[in-house]
Amino acid sequence: MTRDTQRLDALAQEVHASFEDTPNARLQEILRGLTRHLHDFVAEVDLSFEEWEAAIDFLTRTGQKCDDVRQEFILLSDVLGVSMLVETLNDIETPDATDSTVLGPFHMVDSPVRELGENISPVSDGQLCVVHGTVRDEQGQPVAHAVVDVWQADTHGFYDVQQPDKQPQGNGRGLLTADEDGKFYFTSVVPAYYPIPTDGPVGELLHATNRHPYRPAHIHFIVAAPGFRELTTHIFIGGSDYLDSDAVFAVKDSLVREFVAREGGTANPCGVTGAFVEAQIDITLHKEGGDNH
Ligand code: BEZ
Ligand code: FE
Repeated sequence: MTRDTQRLDALAQEVHASFEDTPNARLQEILRGLTRHLHDFVAEVDLSFEEWEAAIDFLTRTGQKCDDVRQEFILLSDVLGVSMLVETLNDIETPDATDSTVLGPFHMVDSPVRELGENISPVSDGQLCVVHGTVRDEQGQPVAHAVVDVWQADTHGFYDVQQPDKQPQGNGRGLLTADEDGKFYFTSVVPAYYPIPTDGPVGELLHATNRHPYRPAHIHFIVAAPGFRELTTHIFIGGSDYLDSDAVFAVKDSLVREFVAREGGTANPCGVTGAFVEAQIDITLHKEGGDNH
């Protein structure tokens, strides 16, 4: 049977027109764009009724998997690259600031307040690391007392919240305040790569498409200071497995750092005396409402 394209176009037009009286112009633009692309997509792949039902079932189960500490829709957005697309569009507006990347689902508890230099992973075994950097504005001036929220998996690839029997809540997390020169520093253990949660519909999608669930080793940061756009980012550990195939497409080359081995006795801001590995991440924040160019 040949396709009645006139009829498909008329349907799409009717849907477009149905948003005519939307008072919010931006909402109107989004809904018109969404439905236009949705109609084109369904027509392009020639979706069968059974496939439409399967899609509804998948989305229903995705919603049912969500609760206070599990957000399967964000995970779906992550594995489809949509979260990263939104981050990247955001970065285009702030070309001189440090690149952002996805928040992820494990920033679910408040990080414990920690002193500069403190070990944020006090109960973890593994290779000790010293991480340090300076928070600056786009003109290179230090941002005094910026708040640096850090969280990471342990050496075995688990966040505290995934192992309540093994790790106390707050292990692998720290809320630091940079000093008057914008400097921050902490010790921790080098985190491992780990799989995103696969026990829900997103896991089924990965399985059905022969995709692996792993993320390369990384440390998360949210950096905030009054008058600046809050930055959500990671540093990725140079040489980690999966740097080239992050399950959520969140690696940016600018965020990869070498963790360099240092012998005992090497000077460091945290006062570590034994051997450690060292990584530096300087952060540039975007001034809100400022004229930066
Ligand atoms: C994370 O790095 O914590 C993460 C990000 C996206 C999906 C799953 C986990
Ligand atoms: Fe993570």
